[in-house]
Amino acid sequence: MEAAPQTDSRPSAATAPAPLLSVRNIEVVYDDVILVLRGLSLEVPQGAIVALLGANGAGKSTTLKAISGLLKTEDGEVTRGEIVFDGERIDGTDPDKIVRRGIFQVMEGRRIVSDMTSLENLRLGAFTRSDRNVAADIEMVYTYFPRLKERTGLAGYLSGGEQQMLAIGRALMARPKMILMDEPSMGLSPLLVKEVFSIIKQINRDLGVTILLVEQNARAALSVASHGYIMEQGKVVLDGTADELRDNEDVKEFYLGGAGDQRKSFKNLKSFKRRKRWL
Ligand SMILES: Nc1ncnc2c1ncn2[C@@H]1O[C@H](COP(=O)(O)OP(=O)(O)OP(=O)(O)O)[C@@H](O)[C@H]1O
Ligand SMILES: [Mg+2]
Repeated sequence: MEAAPQTDSRPSAATAPAPLLSVRNIEVVYDDVILVLRGLSLEVPQGAIVALLGANGAGKSTTLKAISGLLKTEDGEVTRGEIVFDGERIDGTDPDKIVRRGIFQVMEGRRIVSDMTSLENLRLGAFTRSDRNVAADIEMVYTYFPRLKERTGLAGYLSGGEQQMLAIGRALMARPKMILMDEPSMGLSPLLVKEVFSIIKQINRDLGVTILLVEQNARAALSVASHGYIMEQGKVVLDGTADELRDNEDVKEFYLGGAGDQRKSFKNLKSFKRRKRWL
């Protein structure tokens, strides 16, 4: 029998715990013809926050929808590879069954029900549950987001930041093992981004909820994640620990505000983007 190579410091398959989520070489096609994901793989360990980063159109939201099963509602399909969650294949499973297995997606753009109150929105999040602890969990959500308790009117009148908080609170009501978050920083001021990300970190730490976080705001995402993946055109092009990614020159240049001479022009670009997002 051959000895294992000495240079490989990774834990062996026998000792490493299986990741909670494992996406293996998936291909996703919309409308039977539009190939969007081209052999994408990623892993999310139990209890971790993992960031999935990339430019517009890279396929980040498509990846989350492939995992949550919501692709089906957009005529999309996983045509190759597999998605394994908690030891079982979930690709091809209906979205409501995936929620029952413990994955809840917070969609891009918040998607709360605007003509219902915050409380009604939170109750909706618990639709898969039959236990009687829903009231207690609503109080638990209010401890993270006290402003939601104060705002008793329709959710449509909440500020952008409050709607994002409500969307995360609604996800918590499902008591998920894992939350998929699609650009929670979108449209928020830098101060609110800080607040929302600090709460995301708290939720992960206190409740042990595993989080896969899609972001264009790489800096914010890498400040809370332990690992990150960078994708381009439907594939992962780089992955590593959050520290490794923060120190990587390409990542600095393209996603973190530029290195050296690039810094000035990127700053302008970033403030332009922010202005656009706020208005
Ligand atoms: N329902 C759909 N039908 C057809 N093509 C789609 C559909 N949804 C997304 N696409 C295409 O798939 C590609 C990836 O889109 P996706 O929304 O996953 O990217 P993204 O990385 O989330 O981008 P963004 O940062 O802009 O949100 C894009 O080219 C997009 O036009
Ligand atoms: Mg997207």
